[in-house]
Amino acid sequence: MYFSQSVLFTILLWPGAMSQLLEQDCGYTNLTVHGQDARPVSNPWKAFILKYNVERTADVVCLGTLIHKQFVLSAARCIARNQVLAVRLGEYSTAKTFLVTRSFRDKNFAADYGIKAALLQIQPDVQFNAFIRPICIITDPAEVPDVKTFRAAGWKKTASGALSIVLKPVELTEVNLSVCNNMYRRNLTDDHICAEHQNEDTCVSLTGGPLMQKVDMNGSLRYVQLGIIRAGVSECRNPAVYTRLSGYIEYILGVVSNYTVSSAPQILV
Ligand SMILES: *[C@@H]1O[C@H](CO)[C@@H](O)[C@H](O)[C@H]1NC(C)=O
Ligand SMILES: *[C@@H]1O[C@H](CO)[C@@H](O)[C@H](O)[C@H]1NC(C)=O
Ligand SMILES: *[C@@H]1O[C@H](CO)[C@@H](O)[C@H](O)[C@H]1NC(C)=O
Ligand SMILES: *[C@@H]1O[C@H](CO)[C@@H](O)[C@H](O)[C@H]1NC(C)=O
Ligand SMILES: *[C@@H]1O[C@H](CO)[C@@H](O)[C@H](O)[C@H]1NC(C)=O
Repeated sequence: MYFSQSVLFTILLWPGAMSQLLEQDCGYTNLTVHGQDARPVSNPWKAFILKYNVERTADVVCLGTLIHKQFVLSAARCIARNQVLAVRLGEYSTAKTFLVTRSFRDKNFAADYGIKAALLQIQPDVQFNAFIRPICIITDPAEVPDVKTFRAAGWKKTASGALSIVLKPVELTEVNLSVCNNMYRRNLTDDHICAEHQNEDTCVSLTGGPLMQKVDMNGSLRYVQLGIIRAGVSECRNPAVYTRLSGYIEYILGVVSNYTVSSAPQILV
């Protein structure tokens, strides 16, 4: 679970309630009610990107977010040629694995210190439910709220390796790009976010994971994705550089509209 209820976050009152979303049914979590078991599902858009190794078992290589019934957003460094990738959505007994049929990354990605947005196409269509639901992507970059604080998943690595990373909630605050420029000797642009957090024992470095915020849209609170985590688990830096999503929305919409294929819906059993 990424976020504890005891942590108080600012809720943004955002006037851009007219904006359009990539998927309407996005960015909220419902209580699950199975008999007496009613508990909140955190982050139903969380996607584990899996790579099959020579023993044909899967390693988690990155994190991503479900943004559309056929697309998962992650970071370009997570995909390489000739890799068989899959995406795991849902939690516990509801988890489902989808094969990646096609992957996309912005052609200019090498110019941006090697890490940009990537899209993984999965099939068949994902059926949304309480455990599997997309995060909101605002389709007009000009309508993306000017958020200065973000929520993300951080981690504390456990002894048994990558799969047992314990995710914990982190709140980040944007700082001036010059802070990261000086620290990492870079020339960062508006396509980057320099942000820091106060949790000294936490690393916000799960490549492909989201920077997000809860936003009031037409009276309902929705999680909107605003950035992508660039660093890998071997890095643990603070403040750090994140990819700002608004610079990639046009690219995302291009891929989604050009490549979404009609496919038979999956039958849930
Ligand atoms: C908010 O309401 C307006 C008017 O009904 C609608 O056009 C818009 O799509 C809604 N926005 C969201 C995010 O649901
Ligand atoms: C889930 O939550 C959304 C938003 O709060 C609400 O519109 C919807 O009716 C809920 N669905 C169920 C099945 O409770
Ligand atoms: C960020 O830092 C630069 C360089 O120090 C400065 O010119 C700029 O005004 C700062 N921006 C903000 C929003 O503080
Ligand atoms: C940043 O850009 C300036 C001007 O183009 C250049 O001189 C400098 O070497 C660059 N610094 C880095 C760290 O790339
Ligand atoms: C989508 O198709 C349009 C029109 O053919 C093209 O201009 C655009 O570059 C394509 N976008 C992507 C991301 O493939």
